[in-house]
Amino acid sequence: MSKANRSSLPWWKKSTVYQIYPRSFKDTSGNGVGDILGIISELDYLQNLGVETIWFSPFFSSPQADFGYDISDFRNIAPEYGTMSDCEKLIQEIHNREMYVVFDLVLNHTSEKHPWFLESRSSKDNPKRNWYIWRDGKKPGGKKPPNNWKAMVGGPGWHYDKQTDQWYWAQFLPFQPDLNYRNPEVKQEMFDTVRFWLDKGVDGFRLDIINTMFEDAALRNNPFALKMFPSESDDKSFFQNKIYTTNHPDNFDFVKELKNVIDEYSDPERFLVGEITASLEVLKKYCGDIRNEDETDGLNMTFQFQSLDVKLDSEQLRRLISRYEQVFPEPYTPTWVFSNHDQVRRITKLGNNQDKAKLNAMLQLTARGVPFIYYGEEIGMSNHRLPLKTALDPVGQKYSWLPQFLVNLITRSGSISLNRDNCRTPMQWNSSPNAGFCSEEVKSWLPISPGHETLNVDFEESDSTSLLSCYKSLLQLRKTTPALHSGSFHLLPSFLFGNLLSYQRILKKQVVQIWLNPSKKLVPIREIVPKSRLLFSTIADTSSIKDTTLFLEPYQGVIFEISK
Ligand code: NOJ
Repeated sequence: MSKANRSSLPWWKKSTVYQIYPRSFKDTSGNGVGDILGIISELDYLQNLGVETIWFSPFFSSPQADFGYDISDFRNIAPEYGTMSDCEKLIQEIHNREMYVVFDLVLNHTSEKHPWFLESRSSKDNPKRNWYIWRDGKKPGGKKPPNNWKAMVGGPGWHYDKQTDQWYWAQFLPFQPDLNYRNPEVKQEMFDTVRFWLDKGVDGFRLDIINTMFEDAALRNNPFALKMFPSESDDKSFFQNKIYTTNHPDNFDFVKELKNVIDEYSDPERFLVGEITASLEVLKKYCGDIRNEDETDGLNMTFQFQSLDVKLDSEQLRRLISRYEQVFPEPYTPTWVFSNHDQVRRITKLGNNQDKAKLNAMLQLTARGVPFIYYGEEIGMSNHRLPLKTALDPVGQKYSWLPQFLVNLITRSGSISLNRDNCRTPMQWNSSPNAGFCSEEVKSWLPISPGHETLNVDFEESDSTSLLSCYKSLLQLRKTTPALHSGSFHLLPSFLFGNLLSYQRILKKQVVQIWLNPSKKLVPIREIVPKSRLLFSTIADTSSIKDTTLFLEPYQGVIFEISK
């Protein structure tokens, strides 16, 4: 049966995902750091917003050197965030609201403080030695790294350990040693960790840098590449083509094994979404081969970071969407992500323009695929501009020695932020000095971003024309309009609509048409079918709809249901 005639897709394909960075969402314990009880206290807000699934960046035990992406116990909760019973309550409270829970799974590495690594580094014959990747240095003398491999964040990826006169491998930062997945014990332990959380009711996982699980076993040198920084489709960087360190062929088999683990669980079906920087074709390989009409045998989805820097321009958007549709036809499912805890917030790239942000939201919530909304995106929180010198982010710290002119040069395009603190500032709940994130006597772990006096939940809830109200309406519309969450997708040719981007979502007899005007011009759409019903407009005043012609204001988007 064609997708256009089916009314029921698996839940995760229809869902909308909201990412919470727990440290920055809501503090109830009074230490200036967000916590699990804080999240629970705002679940009604999220339900009311209309998001259906919540993904949490890690709150597991961790020295917090990379704020939770350096884990020292995968089956416990860091005390600053709460307890295991808080975590169980969180899962329960989310399920009580008929919403879903996604945890962040950092399989690639542990903290250097993880007891496994402490054991592993203690001696060459420790039973945990082979849980990590240890090698001799280059001969003679062994005081040079085993080969030329660079870390993802730049600099050498091998680190010398005096105690045993060997080097260990770390894809990310030196305090995040890579686990050795060629050791079956490691795989078994981590798959059991996955089962541990599935047993607690977790509905899916976001997989941290899942394209770096395996490296070349023969340790061949990566070839040279004339490229300094990675881009969304291509991780060549720091003058290296990373053919032996990322997207190794063994990764593709690994994700299939992982998929088999989550498939042990049903009712509800669970899902996996992978964090991967690669071309669309490589991303598709991670999703595997078609297994049945609903899914493939690899990852359910990958992030397509290609959207991060796409301009609000009809040609660029059309090209991007066409590529998604070409590479990820059903049952493959694209994702729509514009911001996250590593990136410059989208609205900052849009010049903090609310109309553009609304248009962007309309695209994100009506194109085919699963949208991922980053906390605060719905109220237009923008990137802070905190100095690199005082960065708490370990990547920012790594580059804090850079002279200002170089920082300016690197960040000039607006799409690279060397200091990830800037996109991780506390959630803005109200206009009080600490934005309602923590009490006023407490110092929040990061400063509040400027503009919170009006860019906050309380303020925007009382304004029907706010960005928050726009998100709410779109989320509600998507939920209650089957064609929008489950319909087939049809891009309308550019010769019909020139500066506009237009597409239809169709499910059975329901036809929904979306028009987006990503330009600063007033654009007429003639030929609006007389019987069309306006479902939503990003600009409240729709008096410009006259007879069968609609004049779209600059950066206005509209959604119509077309009666056949
Ligand atoms: C990718 C995560 O998104 C990032 O925040 C983290 O620092 C690295 N992986 C290391 O886990």
